[in-house]
Amino acid sequence: MSEIMNRQELKMVTLPKICDRRGNLTFIQNGDHIPFDMQRCYWIYDVPAGRQRNGHAFREAYELIVAMSGSFEVVITHPDGTVERHLLNRSYYGLLVPPMTWRELDNFSTNSVAMVLTSTTYSPEDYIRDFDTLRKEVSDE
Ligand code: TYD
Repeated sequence: MSEIMNRQELKMVTLPKICDRRGNLTFIQNGDHIPFDMQRCYWIYDVPAGRQRNGHAFREAYELIVAMSGSFEVVITHPDGTVERHLLNRSYYGLLVPPMTWRELDNFSTNSVAMVLTSTTYSPEDYIRDFDTLRKEVSDE
């Protein structure tokens, strides 16, 4: 997958939002809202305010990142060094992050909850935890 392809596939997804007097409801369904079948869901919470989670990329996994509560930023660093910051602060927005994309989670607000849906089950081998390794693997493709 090329860098250009990554840039095209990285996008904010607006999820359905059903509002009535009882409150709001949002949902995600395989085949409808994201271009992958969900295999796993995890969430990150009780992050000290302002803290950052270590960066990484995935070789195969797609992910959709949603701020279920509070806010945080997803920081994308492209192989050429350019940086995009995406603020997530509504639970009906999800950031679709394709494989081979370096991302960090930053600036967590107090009591924020980051939910991540992914296209694979957990596999440590799918992780790229070093930015230079990602750059090399992208340029070898
Ligand atoms: P880690 O990938 O380091 O978190 P982050 O996404 O913030 O970089 O995961 C922390 C620990 O949790 C690590 O020991 C692996 C474990 N883990 C699982 O067992 N399954 C999972 O789905 C995830 C995301 C993590």
